[in-house]
Amino acid sequence: MSEEIVVIEGDGIGKEVVPAAVSVLEAVGDFRFVGAEAGDAVKDETGEALPQETYDTVAEADATLFGAAGETAADVILPLREAVGSFVNVRPARAYPGVDAVRPETDLVFLRENTEGVYSGHEDRLSDDLSTLTRVVTTSASERLAEFACEYVDERGADGFHVAHKANVMRETDGRFRDAVVDVAEREGVETEEVLMDAFATRVCLDPTQFDVVVCPNLAGDVLSDLAAGLVGGLGLLPSANVGPDNALFEPVHGTAPDIAGEGVANPSAAILSAAMLLDHLGYGDAADDVRAAVESVLADGPRTPDLGGDAGTEDVTTAVLKRLD
Ligand code: NAI
Ligand code: MG
Repeated sequence: MSEEIVVIEGDGIGKEVVPAAVSVLEAVGDFRFVGAEAGDAVKDETGEALPQETYDTVAEADATLFGAAGETAADVILPLREAVGSFVNVRPARAYPGVDAVRPETDLVFLRENTEGVYSGHEDRLSDDLSTLTRVVTTSASERLAEFACEYVDERGADGFHVAHKANVMRETDGRFRDAVVDVAEREGVETEEVLMDAFATRVCLDPTQFDVVVCPNLAGDVLSDLAAGLVGGLGLLPSANVGPDNALFEPVHGTAPDIAGEGVANPSAAILSAAMLLDHLGYGDAADDVRAAVESVLADGPRTPDLGGDAGTEDVTTAVLKRLD
């Protein structure tokens, strides 16, 4: 193992949870880590939230581990997803034994379209009273997501996947999304079930076991995965992968958590689980499983950060994970 992993801590608790995840990667492999900068702090210094050098380094690396950026999040993460050519954001949301969860039976994966929808950046201020946003949906991006979903369902051993959309209102854009996704699934012989995204929000709260793999447009995937975080015990538990054809970038779902940043109490689980997804991506599935098992074991009966009702710090949890990896 000597792949190059770019490490971008970013702002706020990114500076606390990313080093935790790096120490776990160091414990299971022999990687070359390359530090890079992005976010509010580098913008204050240089005027640019995402220096070109960082973009280029990420584009050329084998994988990137990113923490979070604050106010500049959109200026950082959207171009970084582009740098790795990411067309899907994989967001697993599962409850862990021992963690107090609203819905302990939750075990879902969101496959979020990662390039377009309302996050395509076409916003305009037309007058003092009027701003508009252009929602972009292409058949090609929807099909690419669906092809990934079909493979993913197969690997996960799922029966098929749900497609969350709002094509009853956004007939043209979500209609195109829905049709393209369903067509690919039919061609691949994968079962799909449609669900309106607002109805999904209610149904998943009442009974998350109705769902397994959920394919969604960009904004819906962003919002619904945070909702699922609420079902499983909080944002400190959700990892994610921005997957491209060759390259990928891994990041916790959470942001910079300014309310707790600097206190050393951020839950490192989401970042460490993101590192496990990175290991999977690089082909080290056994190491990834070991890391997940260690995190699960600590969540079950080890030290906990305050978001999970404990009084341990980020370092205590990380040390416990490292010990269980031995
Ligand atoms: P947030 O995810 O930073 O925090 C929401 C709540 O969850 C807070 O109460 C926070 O303390 C808690 N939380 C989040 N992660 C945690 C962890 N690992 N351990 C313990 N508690 C945790 O979302 P918020 O407050 O909406 O955004 C804060 C900043 O982060 C904003 O400037 C936003 O732009 C940025 N952000 C950046 C993202 C990115 O870079 N990908 C993603 C989401 C938000
Ligand atoms: Mg989000």
